[in-house]
Amino acid sequence: MASETTAGLAGVVAGRTAIATVGKEGKGLTYRGYSINDLAGQATFEEVAFLLIYGRLPTESELSDYQEALRGQRSLPGPLKTVLEQIPASAHPMDVMRTGCSALGALEPEGKGRDQTAVANRLTACFSSLLLYWHHLHASGRRIDTASDEGSTAGHFLRLLHGKKPDELKRRAVDVSLILYAEHEFNASTFAARTIISTLPDFYSAVTGAIGALRGPLHGGANEAAMALIERFSAPDEAEKGILGMLAAKQLIMGFGHRVYKISDPRSDVIKAWSKKLAEAAGDERLYPVSERIERVMWREKRLFPNLDFYSATAYHLCGIPTPMFTPLFVVSRISGWSAHIIEQRGDNRLIRPTAEYVGPEPRPFVPISQR
Ligand code: ACO
Repeated sequence: MASETTAGLAGVVAGRTAIATVGKEGKGLTYRGYSINDLAGQATFEEVAFLLIYGRLPTESELSDYQEALRGQRSLPGPLKTVLEQIPASAHPMDVMRTGCSALGALEPEGKGRDQTAVANRLTACFSSLLLYWHHLHASGRRIDTASDEGSTAGHFLRLLHGKKPDELKRRAVDVSLILYAEHEFNASTFAARTIISTLPDFYSAVTGAIGALRGPLHGGANEAAMALIERFSAPDEAEKGILGMLAAKQLIMGFGHRVYKISDPRSDVIKAWSKKLAEAAGDERLYPVSERIERVMWREKRLFPNLDFYSATAYHLCGIPTPMFTPLFVVSRISGWSAHIIEQRGDNRLIRPTAEYVGPEPRPFVPISQR
């Protein structure tokens, strides 16, 4: 067995999967063999979620049944609403996602009459609902009805957020972003979910842990951090100066770089095109040009490229989504990938328990407290 350690497990093959390829020569990014460009260009999020969870593309009638099933599970049980009402307005929406998921696990446990696929579908259906129930209660004191007749997850999210039928350009932009965010092999949150499920707990425990792992700014939290960065600048020249200063101070520029990709993130081009389309529709002359300049400076200075989170930030902003909801939207999507990995891990499980290289003191005699 190799005794050398690899910081951050970079490049370590930590298991097998049939769900996605990330940056593999000749394959690029695929979900179950389908290229991300085909999926983002021609599929809907629900088709992709079905593909990930059930392992194949749905037929037209299967997709319509699946959408109907999700639509029917958007309401929240009373005790969950009570839990959400206890979470203060000052909490981060990711607290709401984590706590909401955990509470639902106690109220609707996996087991009798509720198998793992049913739990995956329930969470896919109601993550937007629990976030926006909490949001409206604190924003305006309203206890909203979280059922909606919107056919898509993106439409449901925007309808609950804005309280009106979503504009189609924005709805499809969010739909595409959910496709791009749905799955990415052994990223930190998915690996966390697989590690947790390998000890044989319930489904919700793995998802709750994954939400915690996603939240950090080195992973899903980067989309919120990227927005905070872009918003600081009022024009491209100012952005260039600011970024050069940050690089000189050796600061991280959020939304850039990737552990696996070395030249570009294939998802970034797709969301960048949507960000541009939304900026044109909104007559935005600031955020998109600032983002493009930051991209140019980062490539020129560091050969670093935007990852999915960078242009998602402007795209979401231009859809009228508050910045603290960016990472929760990642959860709304990634539940599909996490679910696929939980199901796959369970199908061929072995406890995930690596070993560590010991770098501590040599064995030494214990000194009783009275003699220290
Ligand atoms: N800004 C400035 N410098 C960077 C950045 C960045 N965003 N990313 C990497 N670098 C630099 C590092 O400082 C390092 O420089 P050095 O060799 O002089 O020390 C070099 O590039 C290599 O970077 P590593 O930290 O070794 O890359 P690693 O694979 O460990 O980290 C990560 C990848 C965490 C994504 C990193 O690029 C980063 O912190 N990016 C910003 C956060 C971010 O955008 N996260 C989202 C990831 S994608 C997603 O979750 C959808």
